[in-house]
Amino acid sequence: MTWLVTGGAGFIGSAFVRLALREGWTDRIVNLDKLTYAGNLENLAELEGDPRHRFVHGDICDRERVLALLKEERPAAIVHFAAESHVDRSILGPEAFIETNVGGTFSLLEAAREAGVERFLHVSTDEVYGSIPEPDEADESWPLRPSSPYSASKAGSDLLALSYWITFRLPVIVTRASNNYGPYQFPEKLIPLMISNALEDRPLPIYGDGMQVRDWLFVEDHCRAVRAALEKGAPGGIYNIGGSRALPNRRVVEMILDALGKPRSLMTQVADRPGHDRRYAITTARLEQASGWRALVPFEEGLERTIRWYRENTGWVARVKSGEYQRYYERNYANR
Ligand code: NAD
Ligand code: DAU
Repeated sequence: MTWLVTGGAGFIGSAFVRLALREGWTDRIVNLDKLTYAGNLENLAELEGDPRHRFVHGDICDRERVLALLKEERPAAIVHFAAESHVDRSILGPEAFIETNVGGTFSLLEAAREAGVERFLHVSTDEVYGSIPEPDEADESWPLRPSSPYSASKAGSDLLALSYWITFRLPVIVTRASNNYGPYQFPEKLIPLMISNALEDRPLPIYGDGMQVRDWLFVEDHCRAVRAALEKGAPGGIYNIGGSRALPNRRVVEMILDALGKPRSLMTQVADRPGHDRRYAITTARLEQASGWRALVPFEEGLERTIRWYRENTGWVARVKSGEYQRYYERNYANR
């Protein structure tokens, strides 16, 4: 059995590919990735020479290419991670988000329909619900109120994917996960950015008052949930995936500083993100009931594993932070 994974050189996609092959979830994975700034073949180094993994350098927007690949490989399922994933970048330049997240998902869905693919899992986000007021928690029927070009593009692609089930009976499943963290995460996101700045004794930029709440999910828990939804989910079904660990950003950053033995004075308040969602909170009962899945890694343990990984992989961090990252950092943070 072969699965086609898109975006499998990114943070979550590469964790999924590594774990799926390590634990034998499938016989073989074809990994289609454009290798944007966020895609990195170093994340797949442990699979070099492994015949169960075929890497294909390509763009999901290229429908002819995708269709040819589907006809050649006849995958039993598509697991679709590929996306532009960072909210701040969608504020600086939304176009790529519409092209890849909406246009690329459309192209994949069309190719999957033509090739008769029997399972299509679209990886989405809890950000499609927008900010959730206390004390509510969004279930899968919560209204979609995305705030950023990123989350609007993901909401658009969710609806498009679901329409392919309703209209064409393409067996689509949509998962909506909360904030992931773990090894190999690109250091533009909160946790790896704060760890890597703290290790270099650089300021840690806190947007606004830092009391925005996120629900943290260790990346391996997310990957196991995606597998559970793929195998046990109903076609046309939507499944939230959360870590059940809601924390204000400031608290997360304090925990990182304490673990590294760095002073709290490194925290620097900067101008807030435009349209910043105050709080994310979701229920995950539907997936738990359908599959028995549970998030297993407590935040303290996951954070410790993550910090250890960044300490031990300074070469990976240095390579990722050279070049394009410097320009992005300057654009996003210089005038805050
Ligand atoms: P990432 O930015 O680390 O990786 C994205 C990957 O997609 C990269 O390897 C990139 O090269 C590839 N890609 C981008 N455009 C492409 C294109 N046009 N064609 C082929 N490949 C392309 O992202 P991530 O954090 O691993 O997120 C993966 C998925 O999970 C995304 O769909 C994201 O919306 C979703 N998600 C992320 C989080 C999170 O906290 N990071 C939470 C919930 C959902
Ligand atoms: O909820 C799921 C989403 O989580 C995913 O869909 C996105 O792909 C992923 O990027 C993430 O979105 P967030 O915007 O919540 O993540 P980010 O790491 O960018 O920010 C987390 C919180 O930290 C948010 O409230 C903004 C804040 N923040 C972030 C950065 C990068 C700061 O205060 N300072 C920073 O420098």
